[in-house]
Amino acid sequence: MVVSRRLWEQLAERALSARERAYAPYSGFSVGAALLVADDTNEPRIITGCNVENASYGLALCAERTAIARAVAEGFRRFAAMAVASGSDEPAAPCGMCRQVLVEFCDDDLPILLLNDTGKQRKTRLRQLLPQPFRGQQLR
Ligand code: THU
Repeated sequence: MVVSRRLWEQLAERALSARERAYAPYSGFSVGAALLVADDTNEPRIITGCNVENASYGLALCAERTAIARAVAEGFRRFAAMAVASGSDEPAAPCGMCRQVLVEFCDDDLPILLLNDTGKQRKTRLRQLLPQPFRGQQLR
């Protein structure tokens, strides 16, 4: 699926607005993620997530995994692109756990836009973030 410039803009906007809904009272580090569903024949479908923290710190859910869980629960398992918005000077990349969870649902090399709230952007790809991933086929 070709991701147009307009779609990247929409993903960036949606990730930034999801970030505003982050529940991050402990770290103060708000993150938003926007996933573009692959092979959608109708209007492009974007599913968002934000980080959700807890007084028991280790239970924090990352924005990326929140978005994936929402998408899967709504019946979507293939993704064409993702944007992640944070507030750090250098736009934050998904953590290791989220990279592994993304691999589960992205056979193709997922293009990822990292951005921050001041407009700084960087593009990367899942394979670059997680080379040689562990995949389910290895269990058989
Ligand atoms: N966080 C994310 O939401 N995504 C990442 O990829 C990195 C970290 C969140 C988890 C936690 O709520 C806060 O950022 C600080 O680690």
